[in-house]
Amino acid sequence: MHGSVDISGSKNACLPVLAACLLTAETCIIRNIPALSDIFSMIDLMKDLGVTVETISNKSIRVQARNPRSVVDSTHVNRIRASVCLMGSLLGRTGEVAIPMPGGCVIGARPIDLHLRGFQMLGANVSTFDSNIYLSAKTLIGNKICMSGKCGPTVTGTANLLMASVFAQGKTVICGAACEPEIVSLCNFLTMMGAKIDGIGTSTLTILGVEKLHGCEFTISHDRIEAGTFLILGLACAKELVVNGISNSESLINPLLEAGADMKIETDKATIKKTENLRCMHIITSPFPGFPTDLHAQISVLMTQINGVSILEEKIYPERFGHVPELVKMKANIQLNGHSEIVNGRCDLHGSELAATDLRAGAALYIAGLLAKGETTVTNTHYVARGYDHFNEKLRAIGADIHEV
Ligand code: EPU
Repeated sequence: MHGSVDISGSKNACLPVLAACLLTAETCIIRNIPALSDIFSMIDLMKDLGVTVETISNKSIRVQARNPRSVVDSTHVNRIRASVCLMGSLLGRTGEVAIPMPGGCVIGARPIDLHLRGFQMLGANVSTFDSNIYLSAKTLIGNKICMSGKCGPTVTGTANLLMASVFAQGKTVICGAACEPEIVSLCNFLTMMGAKIDGIGTSTLTILGVEKLHGCEFTISHDRIEAGTFLILGLACAKELVVNGISNSESLINPLLEAGADMKIETDKATIKKTENLRCMHIITSPFPGFPTDLHAQISVLMTQINGVSILEEKIYPERFGHVPELVKMKANIQLNGHSEIVNGRCDLHGSELAATDLRAGAALYIAGLLAKGETTVTNTHYVARGYDHFNEKLRAIGADIHEV
């Protein structure tokens, strides 16, 4: 495989930015929107709330939330977990929200206790009944809120509290805030809308409530998880691959370089080649700037190609191992030990019939299939379409032989 790939806009930056458009009655223009089923579901959900969303050009939309409904009962709500971000924006904008409780998912339990406790601390009434969440507040009042749980800070929880607190009276301090680039992006968007936020990019965010936000234009940054997926693919099997759009990828690039990857980094682009004799890795997933859990399954495939024993510890989602039985079907030698994978390499992967169990596991199976001898079939590819923009097309353009059946 060889060639170059352009990384699309970030799913996890785009979803909260779309939710934040509900904080103003004015028009927002959002550029570099990725073509993903999760984004389309979010847009459908916003339309069901009475929000006008128009496509203005390739990858750009115009959003106007003149008078959004606060009851989220759309059929689209269960399709995307990030619909939880509507809680913060609707509570901030309308003072009340009714929304179905998000369920667990295939990467494990995904509680929202920290979100709900945070809303309560801003003075909202929070109740749950019959799998629905009800939030209401005549006035939200600034407070000091901690967003850190036993697995670290919550990303969408921090986004929710940011959106709820922009109109809260006085000062809100979010300590233990997530520092992920997607939170920085949301803070930048809110600031462009007129919010007053200090400490952007740190674990302490201070928000001074304002009366009103206004519309603005905003460009979504590159998807660091898509970039990471292509970097891993390039290292595993490309003659030469240029990945354009690698901002915020240091937490992947540094361990790859330490393992001996043949990779040249220039401003926002990396040229990477399949490298023989990579050194064994010991990766621990953790909140930003640590190694992202959303690259866990993909790096696990790379580890199967390294001589010796590599270790992969999962610290964010203790059940994120859906890819392991599938890789074992391909003759990978991986043992699970608690919340860690012990990967014995190097092994030849064999083409097999595989099923994606979630978005990132699905992407990992594509990489494994491209590495394997013979043909691999991956089912449940709708998971992959949730988070990878034109994945099959991008892979074909760099030499992959992929057919949709
Ligand atoms: N947690 C709690 N209580 C809460 C919220 C979270 O205990 O109220 C725990 C979770 O169980 C988990 C940890 O805190 O162990 C972190 O979860 P977090 O809330 O940060 O996850 P999230 O905001 O629901 C976002 C991304 C995920 C990504 C995680 C971690 C979006 C839309 N989703 O989820 O992305 O894995 O942060 O970085 O931003 C993906 O794109 O494939 C994906 C799953």
